Amino acid sequence: MKILVLNGSPKRDKSDTMHITRAFLAGMEEAGPQDTHIIDVIDKRIEYCTGCFTCMRGGSCAHDDDMGAILEEITASELLLLSFPLYCYGMPAPLKAFLDRTLPLSGMAMKKDGGRYRHVSRADLSRLRYLMICGCGFPGSRQNFEPAVAQFKLCFPADNTVVTVPQSPMFSAPEAAAVTVPRLELARRAGRQYATEGRIDDALLAELNSPMIPEEQYAAIVNSGV
Ligand SMILES: Cc1cc2nc3c(=O)[nH]c(=O)nc-3n(C[C@H](O)[C@H](O)[C@H](O)COP(=O)(O)O)c2cc1C
Repeated sequence: MKILVLNGSPKRDKSDTMHITRAFLAGMEEAGPQDTHIIDVIDKRIEYCTGCFTCMRGGSCAHDDDMGAILEEITASELLLLSFPLYCYGMPAPLKAFLDRTLPLSGMAMKKDGGRYRHVSRADLSRLRYLMICGCGFPGSRQNFEPAVAQFKLCFPADNTVVTVPQSPMFSAPEAAAVTVPRLELARRAGRQYATEGRIDDALLAELNSPMIPEEQYAAIVNSGV
């Protein structure tokens, strides 16, 4: 499968979240060879969308930067994987700049889809699946991940899968290996299952998304170091 990974963490390969993403991709590789390209979004020149709508009216984007090549890669991919840490209940700014600049993939025309309107796609993205892997620093998921998950699902309504793992700074702490190693094994299993079955079963997803240690214990550990 042709996989495009956009790593939205400014920490590049030091990203806590990328530990989960790498384990997931390793699981996919176990199921069969994959053609994977990881882009560190922070290293790309992606100007802010100016909202001129030229692209959606059939013209080309006012900016000439790295985004054109990324859009071409998206349309040639079968899986678009956004890996990012939760920042202020959403995605980090460089990744949001990327998301805004995907506008040329849509036309100005709007159509009703379920209970809402969305723009009609200009590119043929019918074979593309979407995966979000998001880590965060708070102890739990409730009243934390919801805005980022809602944005991802509204932007990518077709064939989307969402993995959200709280307490993710523990992945970069060797002393937390007793809980992170089993969690990374779960991520690996999820990747294997996703590659073979096209989905992650609800039980495995719930386990993967759950806190690694009790929320109060995690908060106490963090607070003891500040
Ligand atoms: C600017 C900023 C905003 C953040 N906002 C949140 C947040 O809303 N919720 C949360 O749980 N963690 C938040 N965090 C913590 C990060 O999600 C956490 O440190 C994560 O493990 C970093 O992942 P990374 O190493 O993959 O970049 C924030 C961190 C920063 C720097």
